Amino acid sequence: MKFSFVTLISILSTNVLASPISIKLSLKSSNSSSESLELVTGTTDDYLNTWYDITYPSIENCNATQTKMINKYYQDLLEVASTVRDHLINEGVDDTFIHWFGENGNPVAVLGFIDNIVQGNKDGVLYRCDDIDGTCAKNPTYPGYHRSIAEQETVICDLFFTSKRPIEDMCVIGNITTVKPKKFAGIDLFHRFCHLESINKGFIAEYVEDYDQVVDYAENNSSYAVLNVDNMLYYLAETYSLQLTDGGCLGNY
Ligand SMILES: *[C@@H]1O[C@H](CO)[C@@H](O)[C@H](O)[C@H]1NC(C)=O
Ligand SMILES: *[C@@H]1O[C@H](CO)[C@@H](O)[C@H](O)[C@H]1NC(C)=O
Ligand SMILES: *[C@@H]1O[C@H](CO)[C@@H](O)[C@H](O)[C@H]1NC(C)=O
Ligand SMILES: *[C@@H]1O[C@H](CO)[C@@H](O)[C@H](O)[C@H]1NC(C)=O
Ligand SMILES: *[C@@H]1O[C@H](CO)[C@@H](O)[C@H](O)[C@H]1NC(C)=O
Repeated sequence: MKFSFVTLISILSTNVLASPISIKLSLKSSNSSSESLELVTGTTDDYLNTWYDITYPSIENCNATQTKMINKYYQDLLEVASTVRDHLINEGVDDTFIHWFGENGNPVAVLGFIDNIVQGNKDGVLYRCDDIDGTCAKNPTYPGYHRSIAEQETVICDLFFTSKRPIEDMCVIGNITTVKPKKFAGIDLFHRFCHLESINKGFIAEYVEDYDQVVDYAENNSSYAVLNVDNMLYYLAETYSLQLTDGGCLGNY
């Protein structure tokens, strides 16, 4: 164990309220800098009224800046998910829902999708910043990737930190149809969970990713639209943008 006793105690005490699962994971790793996300309360903690049993991944081999950014972006994920969940429950199949899932889209499937991302079992789920496979270096356009040889692990590349934006920038840096949902770090993290079998349950997937195909799914294939990651990401972004500015910032749709 590289952890000193004092380090261990401080990890335990900072995480004891947030996530018992993560504590176990932190202790399992014998290498340094394994940490867990923790609740940060502040101006954007409304999501605490939505879920009391949020689950968190562990973080390994990320430096202080990276850990701080991931923590902030995880709050973004929760803020968006909570806002959108409330909207869905209150508004049901509204214009925004129809844009991305069609009139026949199943709102309950969408609700379950969101809850499962936030509350699903994240036992063993890990974010790491060490480019362990050298895949970030080989692919300078990758903000991150899912490790197929270690199912529960997501490698976050340096590009994630330099290119992704906080949700505060939504509608400020452009329309959602030009600035894609994954530009926002919290939404990108939401999407990364969909690659984990433990969370996607073999149903949620990136069936189609091109914008035209996403729109086609919404119009012609609702039963897959509600399971398709990118349809969900557009729905999240447009719905969240409605809370920011009247009419949202979908742009030319
Ligand atoms: C810890 O890190 C070292 C050096 O990076 C590596 O060789 C070793 O396999 C790691 N151990 C574990 C348990 O991950
Ligand atoms: C963390 O790593 C990033 C990327 O390598 C680097 O730009 C940043 O300066 C590092 N921060 C600290 C506090 O070491
Ligand atoms: C839906 O399917 C019809 C028939 O194939 C097609 O003409 C239409 O362009 C599709 N809608 C979208 C948005 O792609
Ligand atoms: C909907 O999409 C799925 C998966 O791509 C495909 O298998 C199915 O045929 C599509 N259904 C329609 C009605 O286009
Ligand atoms: C979309 O972006 C264009 C160009 O920046 C802007 O003129 C337009 O008002 C935006 N539309 C919405 C709905 O935000």
